[in-house]
Formats: sequence, structure tokens, C-alpha cells
Amino acid sequence: MNIEFHMKEITVHAPATVANLVCGFDVLGMCLNEPYDIMRVRLLDKKEILIRSTDGYNLPADPAQNTAGAPLLSILEEIDQQVGFEVIISKQIKPGSGIGSSAASAAGAVVAANSLLGNIFSKEDMVRFAMIGEKVASGVKHADNISPCIYGGITLIRSIFPLDIVPIPSPSLYVTVVHPQIEVRTSDARQILRKEVLLKDAIRQWGNIGGLVAGLIKNDYDLIGRSLEDVIIEPVRSMLIPGFDKIKQNCKAAGALGGGISGSGPSIFMLSKNEATANAVKDAMQEIYTDIGLAHHVYVTTVNMEGVKIVNAVSS
Ligand code: HSE
Repeated sequence: MNIEFHMKEITVHAPATVANLVCGFDVLGMCLNEPYDIMRVRLLDKKEILIRSTDGYNLPADPAQNTAGAPLLSILEEIDQQVGFEVIISKQIKPGSGIGSSAASAAGAVVAANSLLGNIFSKEDMVRFAMIGEKVASGVKHADNISPCIYGGITLIRSIFPLDIVPIPSPSLYVTVVHPQIEVRTSDARQILRKEVLLKDAIRQWGNIGGLVAGLIKNDYDLIGRSLEDVIIEPVRSMLIPGFDKIKQNCKAAGALGGGISGSGPSIFMLSKNEATANAVKDAMQEIYTDIGLAHHVYVTTVNMEGVKIVNAVSS
């Protein structure tokens, strides 16, 4: 492989993402403008990966066990050059929050490394590498956080073997996300799911997925709202999230189009047509968690159309 090295250090913002979008378990995801991790990646002249963090989350520093490190090991294997990477991670997306913390680390590392390597890989290649980080984090390669993190916007993952990623256009959407300060591990939230579904539930679910995608493409907010329904995963997982039903009910009463569990939880997200509604939804969420006495953090943000963003580059 012929690689020209022009850069020695790249800094990226690696954004949070909402996987599943309620009805599309493992196949739909959306990129957010807030929050995002800050990652600095340096080119090394030795074939090694060094992981450092400045955030105090105590994530594994062994690259094979780290969601940013494992994809980079795989890149080094594929390019077979005497280079390596040092990654300095400043996490703003709390691990176990349900807004794609592991995906941000993996996607941010891969996009930065690709840039240091002179952009030799396509977006699809980058998703393939970054998915290795998801396997480290949750035991399963899923791409519904990674794809929107790399492509930006909303993506449909029609298939992961082979990879088939479809960017879905969307109208302007405001997103309110509440993160109750409890941790739900994706691996645990996957373990509790039933392995079989009833045909009648499957029919309702794929009707909703089709409806959501059509609503996004047609800018039909009512159809988007009607389709934000999950009859398979949410009834099981919502038990892990205090106040879930009440939050959903009150947020819809405040004007949200709809919403549900963000990824594997515990965060809950709601979509709104405008900022005023998104802020009213924020108030509704805060009121419930304040009543319950559960510490929480709320973001009001929009759909990030860019994905991982390079914010600084130092040439060699
Ligand atoms: N689709 C995955 C799940 C996303 O719900 O388990 C995890 O962030």
C-alpha cells in the first residue's frame, strides 16, 4: 500500500448518537451535535497503539480492550507499515449512557487515523474498522451508532454482513435527551431481550420502520411521530429506566413528536419540530426526575449532518 504522510497530528470531535430510533433496533441511528468527545491522534514511527485519557473514566488502556484501540490495531494489520498511533481521549459522553459513547471513541479514532494516513479508506471501510470497537464494548458488532457517527445525519444499516449503509434525509429536527445518572451496560441490555418475536409484533414493527423512513424522506412530521413506536424491545428494556412511561407520556403532552429509549438506555430521547417544544420537553423530563430524586443531565440539540469532525491538523 502506497501511503503519503502529510500530517502528524489530528484532533477530532466525535459526536454522540442515538441508536435504534425507537423501532429500528440495530438498523437505524442518528448523529447529534451535542455532546461530543475530543480526541487527539498522533502518528508514531513504531508499529504500536498507545491509549491515554484525560477524563478519569478509567477505561482500559490496553489497546486490544479499548474501543478506540482495537479498530486501530486492525488498521495497522491491514496497512502493514512501520507506523502507529497515540490516542489521547477526553470523553464528554459518559460510558454506559446510551448515546454512543463507545462508538464515538471508535469512530473518532478511525476517522483521525484515516486522515493521518492520507484518507486511504472509504466511509464504509471506516465503519467496518470502527465496528470492531463495538465488539470490544458490547460483545456484538452493531453499526447503528458507528454509521451515523461517521456519515452524519440519520442512517439505515440495511445489512452489516455485507455492509450496506443507507443515509436517510430528514427534515429539521430538535432532539431532547435526558440521561438519568445510572449506568446500563449494552451487553446486559441485550442479554435480557427475548430471542424470538411474535409475527404480529414483527408486522407492527416493520410497518413502523417503513413509516419512519418514509416520514423522514417526505418531511411528514405526523408520520414520523406515529412511527416512533417499539413493540419488541422497549417493553423489556424500559423496566431498567426509572420513570420511563411517565416521561414518554409527559413529553408527548408537551408537544414532542415521540421518542423512546436512546440505544440501550438509560438515556431517553424525544424529537420535536422546533426549539421551543424541545425546551418544553426538557422541562417535562427535568420535572419528573427531580420528583423521583434522580440526578440527571439534559441536552437539547439538533441532528448533526457531518459526523466526526476534524477540528485541528498539524502537518509533518
Ligand atoms: N442497537 C444497539 C442496542 C445500540 O440497542 O443494543 C446500543 O447502543
